[in-house]
Amino acid sequence: MDIRDVLKNNPLVLAPMAGITDFPFRMICKEMGAGLVYSEMLSVEALVREHKRTFGMLHTDTRERPVVFQIFGSKPESMAEAAQIVSLGEVDFIDINMGCPVPKVLRSGAGSALMRDLGLATEIMAAVVGASSVPVTVKIRLGWDAQNIVAVDFARAAERTGIVAVTVHGRTKAQGFSGTADWGMIKVVKDSVGIPVIGNGDVRSGMDARRMIDETGCDGVMIGRAIEGNPWIFREAKQYLETGVVPPLPTLDERKSIMLRHLNDMVRLAGEDIGVLEMRKHLSWYTKGLQGGAEFRERINHMWGVGNIKREIAEYFEGLRTGIPVAHLES
Ligand SMILES: Cc1cc2nc3c(=O)[nH]c(=O)nc-3n(C[C@H](O)[C@H](O)[C@H](O)COP(=O)(O)O)c2cc1C
Repeated sequence: MDIRDVLKNNPLVLAPMAGITDFPFRMICKEMGAGLVYSEMLSVEALVREHKRTFGMLHTDTRERPVVFQIFGSKPESMAEAAQIVSLGEVDFIDINMGCPVPKVLRSGAGSALMRDLGLATEIMAAVVGASSVPVTVKIRLGWDAQNIVAVDFARAAERTGIVAVTVHGRTKAQGFSGTADWGMIKVVKDSVGIPVIGNGDVRSGMDARRMIDETGCDGVMIGRAIEGNPWIFREAKQYLETGVVPPLPTLDERKSIMLRHLNDMVRLAGEDIGVLEMRKHLSWYTKGLQGGAEFRERINHMWGVGNIKREIAEYFEGLRTGIPVAHLES
């Protein structure tokens, strides 16, 4: 599959997010209008050691395709082996994580630690491209810190090694998730390479997506934190990009039915206890800012049993007038 065609057809990309962009949530985002969806990051060491949970994370479905599976690690040989394993599945692209700032990942030399070692990063990219039977992408930050901005060098190295697209999160490792993403640097990277560039950082609406495309010339727009409790952002952004019109916010009915569907799908995939546990954060995000939301969250965060949670959701929404756009929020 050609990633240029994918992004031309629909430039909206669901970011890889650990603990969030699992199969059930990717499916919802896809149905809402995402053009390309990324998995959570998968540990290559776990994959190579045939870790059971990681293999569960490889679950996919033709309806969510095109789908990207992201891997993280620091050893070219393990990265290659994992890429070979993952690319045998129902996957369209493999992505290499070079942006994760989590200490545990950094200690193993993976994620954004690689932004300090262009030589090793290049070796890893070449190894993964060589071993994967699907095209490979890479996700980088601007660099380790403000004194070491290396995104252009990394993007050029990626292009040379046969990587088909680069995602640039417009922050340094040192910034973590704070401050504002530097879209100017995304444009600099875009102007420096011939492969497609996916811009990332601080896109929270269709208008932001439009602005990022206009300001950077990027080929794709990756959306991360703004999807928490808000998969509708893809519907909104897609319509805005296509027509310049912002569609209405989801109604409470829609919100309720997505919450129930998400819960069902998660429990089907992960089993009741893990499914309920995994859903607590999503259900909390879905009700963020809604009237009585704090009390709802307090109740479900101590509750087990999918039947109990469903009843709680039904009762909660019964207490709100259905059909009212979610704009009517408490502050
Ligand atoms: C909870 C959380 C988990 C994340 N997990 C990953 C991950 O697994 N792989 C990755 O490359 N980036 C990960 N990221 C970073 C996002 O993909 C994205 O680059 C970042 O949030 C900036 O985009 P945003 O401003 O739209 O949120 C994660 C971010 C958050 C907040």
